[in-house]
Amino acid sequence: MFKTNNTKKLSLGIVGGGPGSWIGHVHRISSRFDNHYEIVAGVFSRNVKISNKFGNSIGISADRCYLNYKEMAEKESKREDGIDVVAIMTPPSSHQIIAEKFISKNINIISDKPFAGNLEQAKKLFKSIKKNKKIKYALTHNYSAYPMVRQAKILVEKGKIGKVKMINVEYVQDWSDGSSINARNAKKKLKWKLNKKIVGSSAVLNEIGSHAYHLAIYISGLKGKNVLADIKQISPKIKMDDNAQVMINFSNGAKGMFWTNVMARGGVYGLRIRVFGDKGSLEWVQNDPGYLKLNPSKGAVKLLERGFHNAGFSKNFSRIKFGHPEGYLDAFANIYKEFAVSLKSKTKKRDFFPNEDEGFETAKFIDACKLSSKSKKWVKIK
Ligand SMILES: NC(=O)c1ccc[n+]([C@@H]2O[C@H](COP(=O)([O-])OP(=O)(O)OC[C@H]3O[C@@H](n4cnc5c(N)ncnc54)[C@H](O)[C@@H]3O)[C@@H](O)[C@H]2O)c1
Repeated sequence: MFKTNNTKKLSLGIVGGGPGSWIGHVHRISSRFDNHYEIVAGVFSRNVKISNKFGNSIGISADRCYLNYKEMAEKESKREDGIDVVAIMTPPSSHQIIAEKFISKNINIISDKPFAGNLEQAKKLFKSIKKNKKIKYALTHNYSAYPMVRQAKILVEKGKIGKVKMINVEYVQDWSDGSSINARNAKKKLKWKLNKKIVGSSAVLNEIGSHAYHLAIYISGLKGKNVLADIKQISPKIKMDDNAQVMINFSNGAKGMFWTNVMARGGVYGLRIRVFGDKGSLEWVQNDPGYLKLNPSKGAVKLLERGFHNAGFSKNFSRIKFGHPEGYLDAFANIYKEFAVSLKSKTKKRDFFPNEDEGFETAKFIDACKLSSKSKKWVKIK
C-alpha cells in the first residue's frame, strides 16, 4: 500500500533532538528505516558548540550544521540541493514558531507533539499550514501508526463494532514522583517540563494526554464536543500538573472517559484504549501492540494478531511476518515512510499519518480541559 517506485531519497533537516534527547534518537532511526531520507542538515541544540559537535558525530557536513533554525531555513531554502523536509523535536512551546519559519520557505514538516504549546499558537500554526498549498505536515502521534491501531480504525470504519457509544482511554507514566526525584533535583532532571512557558498550557496533557486523546479520535473518527475536566498536581515533589481526569461527550453522542497521569507507580508507558459500539468493542494496549481484542456482543472474543489473515489490513503497516514482534520504532517509522510516499506520489492516495487537523483538534481539547478544570464546569471544545 505505502510503496513508491521513486527511489530518490528526501533530504532531511533536523531541529532539536541533540545529546540526551531520547526522542531525537528515535526520529533519526525512524527516518532511516525504509531508505526514504538522508539526514543532511541540522541544528541539534541551542548551544552552537554542542550542536556542531553532535552534527559532526552523525555525519553532517560543517557547512550544514547551523547556528539556529532561522539560519537553517534561510540557507537551506536557497540551496539547489536544500532540504525537502524538516523534522522538529524541540520542547513544546517552540514547535509553532520553528514550523512557521520553515513553512514560509515551503519546506515540508514532520513535527513531534504536541501540535503547539497552547491554543493560540495552534490556531496560528493551523492557519499557516492550510494557507501554504506547497507543503505537507505530519505530527508524530506515533501510537496511531501501530499496525493494530490502523486495523482498529478500519474495523470501526467498516462498522464491525457498530455505532461508537463509549470510549475509555488512559495513558499513564511514572516519573513526576519517582524514587529518583526530589524537590532539589527535580528541576535538573525534569528540565523544561517544569517550566510553564516551555511545556505549554498543561504539562500532563501536552506531554502524554495529547497522545491519548489523539488515539481516541484517530480510531473512532469522532471529535470531542465538550469536556468536564479535573487537572491536578498530585506529586508533592514538583510544581506541574501531573494528573488529568476528563469526561468527554463526542460529536455523535458517544461518552468518553479519559485519564492521564505521570506519577502512576509502575505505569510504564501504559497506554490503553477501549472503544465500545452497539455491536461490540475493541481493546488495544501499547505494551502488547501486536494484538487487538475484538469483543462481539454475541459470540466469543477474537484476538486479532498483526499480519494474520483476520487482521489483513494491518499487513499494510508491517514490515516483517506475523509471529515476529514489531514495536515502537517500527510504528514511529511508519509515519516517516508514509510521509515520504505521500510527498513522492503523483496520484492522490489516502494518508494515514497524523496531520494538522488532528493536531489542532488535540490542542482545542487541551484548552477546553484547562478551562473546564478552572471553572469546574462543562466546556465546549471550539
Ligand atoms: N512522540 C513521542 O512519543 C515523544 C516522546 C518523547 C518526547 N516527545 C516530544 O519531543 C519533544 C522534545 O522532547 P525531549 O524529551 O527530546 O526534550 P529534550 O529536552 O530531552 O531534548 C530537546 C532537544 O532540543 C534541543 N533544542 C531545544 N530548543 C532548540 C532550538 N531552538 N534549536 C535547536 N535545538 C533545540 C535541546 O538542546 C535538546 O537537545 C517534546 O515536544 C516532547 O513532547 C515525543
